[in-house]
Amino acid sequence: MRSIFDFAEKALECANRQELLNLTHEAWQLSEKNELHFESKNLPKPIENVRFPERPILLPPRDMPKRKFHTQEGLAAFFHAISHVEFVAIYLAWDIVYRFRDLPDEFYRDWLRVADEEAQHFSLLNAKLKTFGIDYGDLPAHSGLWDLAQFTATDFLQRLALVPRNMEAHGLDVTPPLIEKFKQLGDENAVEILTRILTDEVGHVALGSKWFKWLCEQRKLDAETTYQNVLLRYYTKKGGSLKGNFNVEMRLKAGFSKSELAWLNTQSH
Ligand SMILES: [Fe+2]
Ligand SMILES: [Fe+2]
Repeated sequence: MRSIFDFAEKALECANRQELLNLTHEAWQLSEKNELHFESKNLPKPIENVRFPERPILLPPRDMPKRKFHTQEGLAAFFHAISHVEFVAIYLAWDIVYRFRDLPDEFYRDWLRVADEEAQHFSLLNAKLKTFGIDYGDLPAHSGLWDLAQFTATDFLQRLALVPRNMEAHGLDVTPPLIEKFKQLGDENAVEILTRILTDEVGHVALGSKWFKWLCEQRKLDAETTYQNVLLRYYTKKGGSLKGNFNVEMRLKAGFSKSELAWLNTQSH
């Protein structure tokens, strides 16, 4: 039987888009057939070993091509940007599998499913991008999406709070208005893709909530105050603040409590 951690290491270090997608689908299928094992025989290599493909080149947000909804070029920039979000999301899912060991098998199965769904999201968006005559990698992309993975590389509790329950949760807030936008533009294909992504993402954030609460229980911590403390510490250290405009309905579905949402509202600007 093959080890999930061997797959994870290859996925994170291959630096090749097609190989990453193939490894992800293959691992998910093997796991579904119970042909993967989840026992860890060695330690993960440091996060600095993770490799991304040479293209797209990664630049700070101010150097991103402008996203606009009324030009073909602006739309291409938009779909390229969200293709990149999904591409990095494949890495984020593999990385949480790879970096944190000796957890229940269910944890690894859950995040392998996330990796596979992220790979599907990426493929849907890249197909859409091709209708604008460009491929993923043809434009520069945002360099900051891996920062939180690096920041939380040795801290499982912070990883769960800051990646699925903060960064991915933010997607639940911003996607519904985008769906509305494409409805107005009459782009049904975009509406379909974004709706599919939103549905899956509620599930990903819900898994973040599930495992965050599980971990807090293991460590005899109060989940809600622990979540607040992790976020406060992070924003104090790194600057910036929570973005606000929280989608209450989606976030409740994804395992946030009403009191957590009330607290988040007091923190956003
Ligand atoms: Fe996704
Ligand atoms: Fe996701």
